[in-house]
Amino acid sequence: MVTEKRRIGVGLIGSGFMGKAHALGYATAARVFDLAAEVDLAVLADADPALAGRAAGALGFRRSTGNWRDLLDDPAVHVISVTTPNTLHREMALAALAAGKPVWCEKPLAPTAAEAWEMAEAAETAGLATQVGFNYLKNPMVALAREIVAFGEIGTIRSFRGVHAEDYMADAQAPWTWRLDPAGGGGALADIGSHILAAARHLVGPVAALMAEVDTPVAERPVRAGAAETRAVQVDDVARLFLRFENGASGSLEANWIATGRKMQHDFELYGSKGAILFTQERFNELQVYYAGDGAGRRGFRTVFAGPEHEPYSAFCVAPGHQIGFNDLKAIEARDFLHAVAGGPRRGPDFREGYEVQKLVELAYRSAREERWLDVPTPPDAPRPA
Ligand SMILES: NC(=O)c1ccc[n+]([C@@H]2O[C@H](COP(=O)([O-])OP(=O)(O)OC[C@H]3O[C@@H](n4cnc5c(N)ncnc54)[C@H](O)[C@@H]3O)[C@@H](O)[C@H]2O)c1
Repeated sequence: MVTEKRRIGVGLIGSGFMGKAHALGYATAARVFDLAAEVDLAVLADADPALAGRAAGALGFRRSTGNWRDLLDDPAVHVISVTTPNTLHREMALAALAAGKPVWCEKPLAPTAAEAWEMAEAAETAGLATQVGFNYLKNPMVALAREIVAFGEIGTIRSFRGVHAEDYMADAQAPWTWRLDPAGGGGALADIGSHILAAARHLVGPVAALMAEVDTPVAERPVRAGAAETRAVQVDDVARLFLRFENGASGSLEANWIATGRKMQHDFELYGSKGAILFTQERFNELQVYYAGDGAGRRGFRTVFAGPEHEPYSAFCVAPGHQIGFNDLKAIEARDFLHAVAGGPRRGPDFREGYEVQKLVELAYRSAREERWLDVPTPPDAPRPA
C-alpha cells in the first residue's frame, strides 16, 4: 500500500539574497533528503506585487503576494520563512507564530535581545518549531570539529580564536543600505559577527563574560549609489571581543565588514590540551586537525576533506573531495527545520539560541560603550535592558 506523505506548504517572505537561498534550500532538501513530508513552494511574499510575482516565477512558487500578511491565514501555507531586513523579523515571526505556523527566520534574530526573547518565548509557548539562519553550523566539517571536541580527541579546549571578515563595505563609496540602520541592532558585529559568536557557542559552549571594542573608520557613506550627499554611519565596521567561556576556556573574536580582500573569512581555531583544529569558510570542505600525540618528528596539521563519512555530505555527492556549496548548507538547514516541523528532533539552532547570540551582541556593544568587562546574564533568562 502506498501511503501519502504529509504536505508542508512553504510561505516565503523576501526574495533577496536569503530569500533565494531559502527557496533553493527547500527545493534541494526535498530532492536529496528522505523527508517525512513533501515540500510545496506555495506562496512568496515581497514588498510589492510585481517584485513578488517575478521572484515567485523564478524560484518556483505557485503564487505570490505583495502583502506578507496574506500568508498568515492561507491554508496552503504551513510554515513561514522570514528573509527580510532585521527590523522586520520580530513582527513577521510573531504574527506567523500567532497563526500557528513554525518559522525559519534569518539571523540576527532581532535587533535587540529583548525582542529575540519575546520571539523565543512566543515559539516555546506555542510549542512550534523554529530555526535561525546560522547556516555555517550546518557544515559537515563543523559537525566533525564538534565531534572531535566532544570525544575529547584534542583534549580540554583551552582557547578559541574566531573571525568573520568580509569586504562588502570596504569601499567608502558603498552606499547606505538597511545594514547601516542602527535600528537593525548594529553593524558588522550584529550582521556577521553573530555567525562567529554562534560558532563559538556551538563549539566551546556558553560565554560567561566578555569585553569589546568597536570602530567605524568609514564615518560617512553616500545616501545612495553615486550620490554626493552623505549620511553619518552610526554602526560598527569592525568589532573585537575578548571572551571567557563558562568551561574555563578563553577566546577572542573579530567581526569586520571592511576587511579588504576577504570574501568569506568565517574562520575559527580551537586549541586543546591534546591537539588543535583550524577551519576557514573560504575552504569549507576541509578541516585541519593536529594531534599532539603523533610521533616526534611526525607532528603537523593534517587536512581532512569532506566526504560521504561526514553526514549529510553523501546526500549531495557520493565521492569525497568533490565539495558541497553554500546553498547546500541552506538545504541541510531546510532539512532540519522540516524534520522538526514534522515532529522529528529539533536540531536548531532555534529562536532561543538566536536570543542567546543576540544577548552577546548587545552585551558587546554595551561593553564597548562602557569600556569594561561584563558578565553574561545567566539563566533563568530574563532580558536585561541594554
Ligand atoms: N544566513 C546568512 O548567511 C545571511 C546572509 C545574508 C543575509 N542574511 C540575513 O537575511 C536577512 C535578509 O538579508 P538579504 O541579504 O537577503 O537582504 P536583501 O536586501 O537581499 O533582501 C531582503 C528582501 O526583503 C524584502 N522586503 C523588504 N521589506 C519587505 C516587506 N515589508 N515585506 C516583504 N518583503 C520585504 C526585499 O524586497 C528583499 O526581497 C537579514 O536579516 C540578513 O541579516 C543572512
